[in-house]
Amino acid sequence: MLVRRKFLISLFLGIGLATPTTAQTGFANRNGVLVFGGTGKLGVEVVKALVAAGEDVTVFTRAGSDRSALDGLKLDYAIGDLLDEKSIAATFDAKAYRALVDASANRASTGKGGGPDRDSKGFYTAIMTPMIKHAKRTGVKQFILHGSVLAGDNIKLFPQFAFLKGSGTLIDKGQAEKILIESGVPYTIIRHGRVPNDPQPPPTGNAYLTTDQAVFGDVTRGDLAMLTLDVLGNPMRTNRIFHAFDPTFKMERPLPTGPIGPGTKGH
Ligand SMILES: NC(=O)c1ccc[n+]([C@@H]2O[C@H](COP(=O)([O-])OP(=O)(O)OC[C@H]3O[C@@H](n4cnc5c(N)ncnc54)[C@H](OP(=O)(O)O)[C@@H]3O)[C@@H](O)[C@H]2O)c1
Repeated sequence: MLVRRKFLISLFLGIGLATPTTAQTGFANRNGVLVFGGTGKLGVEVVKALVAAGEDVTVFTRAGSDRSALDGLKLDYAIGDLLDEKSIAATFDAKAYRALVDASANRASTGKGGGPDRDSKGFYTAIMTPMIKHAKRTGVKQFILHGSVLAGDNIKLFPQFAFLKGSGTLIDKGQAEKILIESGVPYTIIRHGRVPNDPQPPPTGNAYLTTDQAVFGDVTRGDLAMLTLDVLGNPMRTNRIFHAFDPTFKMERPLPTGPIGPGTKGH
């Protein structure tokens, strides 16, 4: 209502007519970056990097989430649940975002909760559909998705991980990527191989993105945050899938060689 009144006043005064962004979107500016999963291990690093870079950041979070890792940072919160489309729609209606970052994760699939099968049970596909719908509706210019190496058809490039082929989580993540790619919303997908368990090591500053989808490696979340900043608003990084790789970082735990079960840590 307020936005409509402002628009009518600008029409009456004959000002603001040369700013199609305002007229088309109903918002005075479109600078915001919306982060999903901003209270998670990766999300916290991403949010810190965005705030440090001076971005206008909003973290979409559940009412009961622990936000203590974000204490003291200059940012906004939108309260909702990724499984509640109404709360997603309201978030996109309340403010204009030029970009969004999805660093959310289903705890069941990362081994921090849920069943021992680590199956995300359609979580990533279920949340992608409303995120895309409302991002598209409100003209978001870039959707940055943190995904996984081996997602969907990518697993075919890794014969050594063939035992993971039927993984519900990887199939789900592949399907979510497909929805994003086919949506028409400009996207950047950053796939990671393995990320460390706690305590989180500091970033090395040596990670990079490659379009070689046969690359699998370990990478810190701090480095993934830096790579997120690198792709934000970068047209050369738009509508492409990247694998994150750090030639100087290697986790001590061995790579899985058989089915992932309760005793296996990380992806
Ligand atoms: N962990 C790995 O080994 C690994 C490897 C490769 C790729 N990745 C990918 O990296 C990304 C982030 O992983 P992470 O380890 O940083 O995850 P994480 O620490 O488990 O964080 C998950 C985030 O998602 C949020 N979330 C979950 N369900 C939600 C819901 N229904 N509504 C709103 N928010 C919800 C959580 O919020 P709360 O704070 O409320 O729980 C939290 O902020 C994911 O795409 C993950 O699959 C992870």
